[in-house]
Amino acid sequence: MKDKFYITTPIYYPSNKLTLGNSYTTIVCDALARFNRKLGKDVMYLTGTDEHGQKISQSAKNAGKSEKEYLDEMVEDTKSLWKLLNISYDKFIRTTDDYHEKAVQKIFKQLYDNGYIYKGSYKGWYCTPCESFWTDSQLKDGKCPDCGREVKFQEEEAYFFKLSAFADKILNLYEKNPEFLQPKSRVNEMVNNFIKPGLSDLCVSRTSVKWGVPVDFDPKHTIYVWIDALPNYITALGYGSDDDSLFKKYWPADVHVIGKEIVRFHAIVWPAILMALGIDLPHRVFGHGWILFGGDKLSKSKETGKKECIDPRVLVPLYSADAIRYILYREIPFGSDGNYSTEMFLTRFNSDLSNNYGNLVSRTFSMVKKYFNSIIPEGEELSQQTDLELKNAVDREVENTMNYMEKLDVTKAISSIMNIFTEANTYIQKVQPWAVAKEENSETRLKTILRNLLEVIRIGSELLEPFLPTSSRKVLDALNIEEKVFKNLNNFKGLEAGQRLKEIDILFPRLDVNAESEKLFKIANQ
Ligand code: MSP
Repeated sequence: MKDKFYITTPIYYPSNKLTLGNSYTTIVCDALARFNRKLGKDVMYLTGTDEHGQKISQSAKNAGKSEKEYLDEMVEDTKSLWKLLNISYDKFIRTTDDYHEKAVQKIFKQLYDNGYIYKGSYKGWYCTPCESFWTDSQLKDGKCPDCGREVKFQEEEAYFFKLSAFADKILNLYEKNPEFLQPKSRVNEMVNNFIKPGLSDLCVSRTSVKWGVPVDFDPKHTIYVWIDALPNYITALGYGSDDDSLFKKYWPADVHVIGKEIVRFHAIVWPAILMALGIDLPHRVFGHGWILFGGDKLSKSKETGKKECIDPRVLVPLYSADAIRYILYREIPFGSDGNYSTEMFLTRFNSDLSNNYGNLVSRTFSMVKKYFNSIIPEGEELSQQTDLELKNAVDREVENTMNYMEKLDVTKAISSIMNIFTEANTYIQKVQPWAVAKEENSETRLKTILRNLLEVIRIGSELLEPFLPTSSRKVLDALNIEEKVFKNLNNFKGLEAGQRLKEIDILFPRLDVNAESEKLFKIANQ
């Protein structure tokens, strides 16, 4: 039986405009999902939308629409953006899906029956945009500590989840299972900021919020959005329905990938809910950092004070989804915050995609065309020093890529893959195939050199495909590689000699950085 790999993004608030910033989680998960498929695993990649709560209801009202009408449009919009960015999710869950709502009601009842939910009354500071209650001591300068906005004092009858009963169990979990929450710094954040100061019971129902899943045994209450949202990871697999075969197959999740501001919910509240239900915990929760634009989450450039263009709907048609994906994998160190700027994007486009990968492919293909009429040549067993060095370097980077992907480190993985192409470009400079071609009796040597280059392009493109699915696939198709799983990554014997290379267009035409930069600033600031 195939190994399984179950990976999830958070479910998105459909009212948030999708930008390079919040697309990040999904783009990262896509590379991880595709990579695991190429490893031959049975992958389930889940994403979706988080559709209940006051904020959504308010946004629908502002748009002059019913919630359903508003949400259907926003969800279509979200799906179309994922399509544009080549996101290969296997399932899309909406928290307004009937099966999800029913399962959440069952889960709430189960928690109540197990003695983990009780009725009380809630007083506290409520932040509407974050849908969170805060105590006096948690407020920051009297405002919401998460988003910095105004909070208002609210009191209402409510159900509570006994989160306080789980403090020791969660600490024990982090201690016994250091893999559970990553990167390590997030564990310290959770322990010092939330668990050590004392976990309070969590208010898990509202009588004032109408747009939500009703508590079936007390319908004037609706279920708190996070208690409705977190279980999506199991309800999407049929937990709480008549058919839970997917749940049996894929749960526990191999990884929940989330942004750092929602680690608290995933690494404290979610495991507590699962423990209370008697369900196994996910293997890993990974809290990535934020993409910062000019030093903060807004999109203004620090140097010019102008807005950066961070709209994928503008960027993808101009530069391709692959290029947008590339910059996020490459520039934001996975697990930490990272900066994005238009200039950095355009410069990297030229240096890494045009000059390194693109140029290697085009010059190798044109040499094979010129010297061998585009027929893939047979190569000799490697014996020359330069060839052996190339092979060793490629082997090393393949191994690095595998190890980094095991740790989910997409940034280090993609930089190892790009090293493969750099090595091949250096090899060309060293062996100078055009000079070899002029020597007498050099045909066998020239064949081996070009064969080596094609093999390195093949191996690198195989590894790159989960990250840049369109351009890498074009190259693999041109090399006549149909295989969808990794094969022959540690040898130079993956190509069939005698086959003809297919013609391939320039992958990433070089950009004029100044002109493009000006164009993008104009679009973003008009
Ligand atoms: N609905 C909740 C999640 C519930 S999961 C049970 C939510 N949604 S969100 O739409 O606000 O966020 C979706 C994802 O986008 C989160 O992982 C969040 O961290 C991420 N990001 C939003 N802005 C971001 C950046 N500027 N940079 C990187 N990721 C960011 O939270």
